[in-house]
Formats: sequence, C-alpha cells, structure tokens
Amino acid sequence: MDLKFRPSFFFSFLIFIFLLSKPDLGSASNPKCTSTERQALFTFKQSLTDPSGRLSSWFGPDCCNWRGVGCDNRTSRVIKIDLRNPNQLVHFDESKRSSLGGKINPSLTSLKFLSYLDLSSNDFNGLEIPEFIGHIVSLTYLNLSFSSFSGEVPAVLGNLSKLESLDLNTGPEPSLYHPWFYLRASNLGWLSGLSSSLTYLDMRHVGMSSETWLQDFSRLSKLKELHLHKCGLGNLPLSLSSPANLKLLEVLDLSENSFSSPIPNWLFDLTSLKKLLLKQCELEGLIPSGFKKLQLLETLDMTHNLLSGELPPVLGDLPRLKYLTLSGNSFQGQIHRFVDALSRYKGNSSLLSLRLYSNRLEGTLPESLGALRNLETLDLSSNKFSGAIPQSLAAISSLHTLNLSYNKLEGSIPKQLKFEDPSIYVGNELLCGKPLPKKCPRKQQTVVVN
Ligand SMILES: *[C@@H]1O[C@H](CO)[C@@H](O)[C@H](O)[C@H]1NC(C)=O
Ligand SMILES: *[C@@H]1O[C@H](CO)[C@@H](O)[C@H](O)[C@H]1NC(C)=O
Ligand SMILES: *[C@@H]1O[C@H](CO)[C@@H](O)[C@H](O)[C@H]1NC(C)=O
Ligand SMILES: *[C@@H]1O[C@H](CO)[C@@H](O)[C@H](O)[C@H]1NC(C)=O
Ligand SMILES: *[C@@H]1O[C@H](CO)[C@@H](O)[C@H](O)[C@H]1NC(C)=O
Repeated sequence: MDLKFRPSFFFSFLIFIFLLSKPDLGSASNPKCTSTERQALFTFKQSLTDPSGRLSSWFGPDCCNWRGVGCDNRTSRVIKIDLRNPNQLVHFDESKRSSLGGKINPSLTSLKFLSYLDLSSNDFNGLEIPEFIGHIVSLTYLNLSFSSFSGEVPAVLGNLSKLESLDLNTGPEPSLYHPWFYLRASNLGWLSGLSSSLTYLDMRHVGMSSETWLQDFSRLSKLKELHLHKCGLGNLPLSLSSPANLKLLEVLDLSENSFSSPIPNWLFDLTSLKKLLLKQCELEGLIPSGFKKLQLLETLDMTHNLLSGELPPVLGDLPRLKYLTLSGNSFQGQIHRFVDALSRYKGNSSLLSLRLYSNRLEGTLPESLGALRNLETLDLSSNKFSGAIPQSLAAISSLHTLNLSYNKLEGSIPKQLKFEDPSIYVGNELLCGKPLPKKCPRKQQTVVVN
C-alpha cells in the first residue's frame, strides 16, 4: 500500500474531519443521507476504478451532497445516481481518461428507492451486465450505453416493472484504437415484463437473432421510441398480429438491418410515427400508398435500399413532412407528379430537406420545385435529369444547400438565390478546392451544378 504523504489526500481528510464536526454545515434545508445508504454507495465506489477522481466528493456523512448522487428532498433517500462520463466518446482519449471502470457492486440493491441510474459512456471493459441490476425494482431510468458492457442482456431486466427508459446502445463501432464489446439479446421474452411502463428503448448495435423480435417489441404498449439500428435482424415480418400495441410509437429506427423485403403494411398502422428511419435495410419494391396513413410523419429516411418504380404522389399527403431522403435507390421516371404533390401547400410547405440523389430519375425538373418555399436542402444529384434549371428556384430564399451535379441539366442558378459565401461547384468540381481554405464556410452552404 502506498503510504506516501499526499497533500490532496491530507486536505480532503481535513475537510472530512471538518464536515464530521459540523454536520449541519450548509445543508440546513438539504436532505441528510441515511447511514445504510451512505455505506452502500461507499462500497459501490470502492469497487469502481476512477483514474480521474470523478468520485472525489464521495466522502463525508451526507451522501446527498456527493457529486452525481440525488436524494428525495423529503425523505432523504437516494433516488438518483448519475455517473455519466461528461467526456463523450467523440473525444476518445479524453473520454477514456475520465471513464469509470472496474466492477459494479451489488450494494446498489440496498438503495430501495433508486429510480435513476446512469453509468453511460464509461468503460467496464467487457463486463457483463450484472443480474442484480434487475433486482433494483424501483428503477425508472437505466442508461448503460457506450460503456463497454458485453455478453447476453440478462432476462432479469424484465423484472424492472417501473422502467420507463432503457438505453443499452452498444455503439460506437470498433475502431483501430479500441476493442469493441458487444451485447447480445438472443431471447427477447423478458421485454413483456416492461410492457406497461417502458416508453423509450435504445438497443442499437445489440445483436439479436430472434425470429420473433417484432412480436416481442410490439408487446411494449407504452413505447414512444424504439431504436434498433444495426442489430443483425434478418427477417422483417410482413404482418403483425398486434400493431395496435404500438399505437404510441413516435420514433422507429430499423436502419442497417438486412431485411431483403418489401416495405410491410403494418408500418402504416403505427399512426403516431413522427420519425421513420429505414436506411440500408435492403428494402425492395415500390413505395406503398399506405404511407398516407402516417399523417404525423416528419422524417422519412430510406437511403440506400433497393426501392424502385416512380416516386409516388402519396408522400405529398403528409402535411408535416420536413425531411425526406430517398437517395441511393432505383427510383426511375419523371418527378413532376411527385413534386406537384409535395408542393401543394406552397408557402405553408413543411418540407425543409429533399434528397433524391443517386437514383435513375429523368426528365425535366418541374417548376413546382419553387413552391417548396421553406426548403433548406435540395439534392437531386447523380440522376438523369435534363433540360433547364427551373428559374422558380429563385423563390426559395431559405435554400442553403443545392446539389444538381451529375445530371444533364442546362442553364444557371437563378441570380436571386443568394448563397452567403457558397462553395460553388462547376462541372462537378468544388472551386474552394482541397484542403478547404479558411474562407470556405464551415456551415454547409453549397451550390452544385454541372
Ligand atoms: C423537492 O422536490 C420537488 C420535486 O422534485 C420540488 O418541486 C420541490 O421544490 C423540492 N423542495 C425543496 C425544498 O427543494
Ligand atoms: C444515455 O447516455 C448517453 C450518453 O452517455 C446519451 O447520449 C443518451 O441520450 C442517454 N439515453 C437516454 C435515454 O437518456
Ligand atoms: C423476477 O422476480 C421474481 C420474484 O422476485 C423471480 O421469481 C424471478 O425469477 C425473476 N425473474 C427473473 C428473470 O429473474
Ligand atoms: C397557408 O395557410 C393559410 C391558412 O391555412 C392560408 O390562408 C394560406 O393561403 C396558405 N398560404 C399558401 C401560400 O398556401
Ligand atoms: C453533390 O453530389 C455529388 C454527386 O452525388 C456528390 O459527389 C457531392 O459530394 C455532392 N456535393 C455536396 C457538397 O454535397
């Protein structure tokens, strides 16, 4: 044991003695921690590794004052532990330095009123999610995302019958610099225990092989957000026996699962949907007319699928649509009927972004594009459009990104369109060049024509 004299330790010790002798200091109206709960937290702390000293305030009698600990202000019982790493993984080295690690001590189970537990963005180096977390039945919020947990998600989590929010997102993806631990959920039957409480579920990158996944998730009748990005799901059922259960669902992300399937009709029974993300799902076939039932839809992203046929006017029946991305598919034919439908609300058009790049669309660009009055981004590049660039674009004063490159268009961008310091592409080349000189804008403000 290292017994060298360390000033910081000595100083902490003095404060500790001081607090012991003056227990009321500065906390006259604040809650007071019970000694059993303080001991439980202290034991929990001792099993953790904490290289950057994030838990240095965890000493002294009143654990309600410890950083990251929250107490009920009436009963003084511990209700919240928030140890989310303040340095998110964007800055990997920094995040690593300030990560907690080690073991999670079962002493947590003696916090009988704990409702909020956030251990996210730390580094538990492949630790399995401990079973005893499923015994903290008072939990309403559990966040174990980005913390290098691995192994099977314990079914006992299904005993957390008050849980409203569960985040097990395992991302980010492996990189050269760090190993990637991943979670699996082979069996999803335990979800049924959360069916009357859970509103938010993020299981991005959690490996799933269950054939009945859709049925299992559809038991969650309170669910508002479901994130299943890149879970290795292979089958997309074409029917769902109980779509009514997902009536409250507002966000559904199934991107990067290889379904090789048409767009299933049960999606259109999820009438609360605001955001539907189906990127890189190997979806094939046409866009079904059922979309018109999703009247609250604001974001639809179906980038990089195998969808084909003409772009249907039905998407113009969605009065709140803001972001529409259908890039990287095999859509073909003209877009006049489609754009006419989208633009029928004119000045009231909700559409902010329309991306149709990399398809096989052809013909002239309709003048009705100019009626998409609130558009900020328009990307029609890499298609087979021909004819003149519509001068009606001049009416879209909010436009800041315009990419018409890799088509057979003629003419020029209307002069009225004022791009502040735009990076102008001519004949598919960016005039700003590479590397980006200082005067090129950070914010994407782009005009591209050829
Ligand atoms: C106690 O907490 C409740 C809600 O959490 C809050 O409304 C109230 O103002 C708090 N009371 C004190 C004395 O801090
Ligand atoms: C969980 O924590 C991460 C950061 O560590 C955060 O990005 C995410 O939004 C949190 N999830 C929920 C449901 O609050
Ligand atoms: C859930 O709790 C009950 C009773 O506390 C227990 O019998 C059961 O084994 C638990 N479920 C799981 C999956 O551990
Ligand atoms: C926008 O909506 C209002 C009210 O619904 C309507 O009076 C107005 O004509 C619309 N404007 C355009 C340009 O369509
Ligand atoms: C414009 O579109 C082309 C072709 O799709 C693409 O290569 C280019 O990166 C786009 N430019 C911008 C600035 O988005």
